[in-house]
Amino acid sequence: MKHIAVLTSGGDAPGMNACIRAVVRTAAYRNIQVTGVVAGFEGLINGDFRDLDSTAVGNIIQKGGTILKTARSKQFMTPEGRAKAAENMRKAGIEGLVVIGGDGSFRGADILASEFPEFKVIGIPGTIDNDLYGTDFTIGYDTAINTVVDAVDNIRDTASSHNRLFFVEVMGRDAGLIALRSGIACGAEAILIPETKTHFDKLIAQLERGWKRQKSGHVIIVAEGDDAGGAFEIARIVQEKFDKLETKVAILGHIQRGGNPTCMDRVLATRLGYEATEALLFGQTRVMTGQVAGKVSFTPLQNAVKHNIDVNETIIKIAEIMAL
Ligand code: F6P
Repeated sequence: MKHIAVLTSGGDAPGMNACIRAVVRTAAYRNIQVTGVVAGFEGLINGDFRDLDSTAVGNIIQKGGTILKTARSKQFMTPEGRAKAAENMRKAGIEGLVVIGGDGSFRGADILASEFPEFKVIGIPGTIDNDLYGTDFTIGYDTAINTVVDAVDNIRDTASSHNRLFFVEVMGRDAGLIALRSGIACGAEAILIPETKTHFDKLIAQLERGWKRQKSGHVIIVAEGDDAGGAFEIARIVQEKFDKLETKVAILGHIQRGGNPTCMDRVLATRLGYEATEALLFGQTRVMTGQVAGKVSFTPLQNAVKHNIDVNETIIKIAEIMAL
């Protein structure tokens, strides 16, 4: 293989730039040409390509977002869109593709490689949600949860000063991993996630208990995909049954997606970028490069996106005990 391309796709995640840099510099070390594709699969379809060398990826390891831009491409979901993408890759002489993204991006990459096996495709997990099977952590997750912790620490100060009840909504359309980990780190009174059913009676009992022991301020973390609804809806229902504390809602939103990546995300991104490029050059295809128990592992793309990640029951229990 003499020429590969790299793209970022789906929701951006801090550490994507560090990963692009690692892919480009590993390829340069192997004397392989690298093309950067602008705006994910949209760029493949439009032939929006730019040459990337070691200099082009200087001074980006510390930057959030993605220098290659990203998108969620509807066109790429159609056979015509993918055929156009393949045609542009062929014309440019691209033989392998590195896709940095989440589940939607991996589904697209896997279909492309199944329809056009002449191209080898490898995935690197880049999403703040940490919802991929085959890696302990995705690039961006650590930065996002640290952003949440900083924000909730600030909210906790004002919640305590006013003796208020706060519902803080964090990202996670399908997964509660941001909520769970940051909730534990912030000492949340309750953590509501899509993986477990929200019982309002249990929640009210928890608040009553805290109120009786004169807790100053309550913070409940709500994952946006919780089965009981978003933070506003849940706050409304709780207020009807528990009106002892003034209730406020804070939606953290896209603040969680930006910012300089943490040390952990920079190192993870660099390691996975290196390993994925090496694996691609040595013939791996249709797999995601992850890190499990400290070791690099390769998982078929179609398994990585299955959403079969078990939320650790013990972690949930620990969170509940800490809030008693
Ligand atoms: O990056 C993943 C994620 O943050 C989800 O948790 C969230 O629901 C979604 O992306 C929102 O992304 P966008 O606003 O870009 O559609």
